Amino acid sequence: MKSPRPSLLVGVSPAMTELKAEIERVARSDAKVLITGESGSGKELVAQAVHNGSGRADKAFVAVNCAGLPETLLESELFGHVKGSFTGAYRDKLGKLELADQGTMFLDEIGEMTLRMQGLLLRFLETGELQKVGSDRALGRVDVRVLAATNRNLRDMISQATFREDLFYRLNVIHLTVPPLRERKEDIPALVNHFLQHFTRNDTYVPREIAPDAMSVLTQYAWPGNVRELENVVERLAVTGSGHTIRVQDLPIEIRAHQGVSLRPKKERRRTVADDLYKRLVEERESFWSVVYPLYMQREITKSNVRDVVRKGLEEARGNYKIVARLFNMEQGEYKRFLNFLRKHDCQVPFKEYR
Ligand SMILES: Nc1ncnc2c1ncn2[C@@H]1O[C@H](COP(=O)(O)OP(=O)(O)OP(=O)(O)O)[C@@H](O)[C@H]1O
Ligand SMILES: [Mg+2]
Repeated sequence: MKSPRPSLLVGVSPAMTELKAEIERVARSDAKVLITGESGSGKELVAQAVHNGSGRADKAFVAVNCAGLPETLLESELFGHVKGSFTGAYRDKLGKLELADQGTMFLDEIGEMTLRMQGLLLRFLETGELQKVGSDRALGRVDVRVLAATNRNLRDMISQATFREDLFYRLNVIHLTVPPLRERKEDIPALVNHFLQHFTRNDTYVPREIAPDAMSVLTQYAWPGNVRELENVVERLAVTGSGHTIRVQDLPIEIRAHQGVSLRPKKERRRTVADDLYKRLVEERESFWSVVYPLYMQREITKSNVRDVVRKGLEEARGNYKIVARLFNMEQGEYKRFLNFLRKHDCQVPFKEYR
């Protein structure tokens, strides 16, 4: 007897919350379920969750990827074979459907099955009888709940005569759709933290966290490979990062390259007072004391303008006020005066967010 596998479906978005509720409802029904969704979106995890929530939870959950094997091997994988039935069949082999007896069979990438295999599967679904490859009679019946998944559009395949309509209706008693990650961006931070915890669980002394701006880059990215892609990226970050905090520059180039892509349709932001001041400081190398300070004291600019300038500096200096002072062209000894000025005029910006 297999113990239930972990199947924690992380997600806080309305779409995921609804999907979880649906899973709970359908799990107990024992009906066949067709799970559709893009590659890497979590179809297998959903199948496991259905199994774990069902009356079969303490029995086997057996998964077969229908795309991974040539037709003859897939047939023997599912139904088993008898010794000598083909070259290399040295002994009798149990099929996965037999192994899944009393439990759940998960047929992944069902859209990749050949028409002949679809016919064999349909016959099994109609009779519950197993016939091993090379055997001339049925072995007997098994009691298996079948869940299937695909990222293909089976209705299109039916109209192209590459998927059997009768099989489709057999499998599609209940239909669950896993939405792509880009349509539930609220789940991204939760998933990032979930995987980060998972991949750093053995490094007790390296608590990892993600800087807010890095998290926002991750959230904006479109994730064409969905949760699997995100999982891989977080694993790489957990393994390769050296510091305490993961920053924007630690993110893979392909993700940083997309930065702002989703922002582009927005109107270009207008230059602010702070932008102009910052440019004078950083590009024209004027000093904070000759640019920002006098304008503020003469009430030409507001506290909030000063704060915005400081914020930009902190962003550039990754939260280090000493570097900000240098960036703003102050003398070595003026760092304390700078901090005192900000404190006194309530223009301090917490540096932690920029670390
Ligand atoms: N909501 C989620 N919470 C936690 N982990 C998830 C979630 N969704 C997916 N994953 C993880 O992401 C990876 C990909 O998920 P899964 O294998 O279920 O996707 P799939 O849709 O079956 O992909 P494919 O179409 O490529 O087979 C797995 O490691 C899975 O554990
Ligand atoms: Mg899968």
